[in-house]
Amino acid sequence: MHTIITQTELEWREGLPYSTAFDDVYFSSDDGLLETEYVFIAGNALNTRWQLLSGNKFTILETGFGTGLNFLCACKNWLESAPAKAVLHFTSAEKYPLSLSDMRKALLHWHSLQPIADELLAQYETLLGTGSITIFNGRIQLQVLFGDATTCLSRLNVKADAWFLDGFAPSKNPDMWQVALFEQMARLSHSETTFATFTCAGIVRRGLAAAGFKVIKKPGFGKKREMITGHLAGTSHDS
Ligand SMILES: C[S@@+](CC[C@H](N)C(=O)[O-])C[C@H]1O[C@@H](n2cnc3c(N)ncnc32)[C@H](O)[C@@H]1O
Repeated sequence: MHTIITQTELEWREGLPYSTAFDDVYFSSDDGLLETEYVFIAGNALNTRWQLLSGNKFTILETGFGTGLNFLCACKNWLESAPAKAVLHFTSAEKYPLSLSDMRKALLHWHSLQPIADELLAQYETLLGTGSITIFNGRIQLQVLFGDATTCLSRLNVKADAWFLDGFAPSKNPDMWQVALFEQMARLSHSETTFATFTCAGIVRRGLAAAGFKVIKKPGFGKKREMITGHLAGTSHDS
């Protein structure tokens, strides 16, 4: 079935994609790639977990696919550290997807990700049409759910091993960072699931705690003072 979706309009400021609708950046002008590595990859301890992975799959759920930078960064680390037979299932919810030409322009920034970005770009129109693609000989499966994050997550029935909580700053996008989103996260998590996000906003910390997560503050990336990571409270992480 083909989904009808509206592609977002964005502005380019000093060569970087900028959302005028949300008055916010897609990735950090300090260095978006390093920020993703720091916040989402290291924040979920992914390389260590992938080197020790005993099962044959790992599932990441994300809010806000955007330019796919977090996805590509996860792919790079996965291909370098996970067992060759294991499959990365990456599912992201995106309400306002980028057009192919904007994706292409945004991803030109990251030379080290180019071979992986090329695989994504080659199938991006298929992704927009069908919502899923498989790359790297089946080692990575990408699904993008087009729509509001909470609504999309409420229809899912999988367990995440790690969460990438992205989706513009809570002050710029308060509609997304709602109690219902954190409740869906708890429903779709298990005792080993972790989350990481760039923000340390009170509404996010309190919402995650109320949904049952233990929230841990860490030093933020670049100019950001703090970020948070965590897991479901009372699970093996706490012992
Ligand atoms: C900062 S960008 C995400 C950056 C992205 N992870 C990347 O690697 O480029 C935030 C994304 O969240 C999306 N978004 C905003 N509100 C949303 C919502 N309620 N549901 C789903 N996606 C949303 C925006 O369209 C945008 O693409």
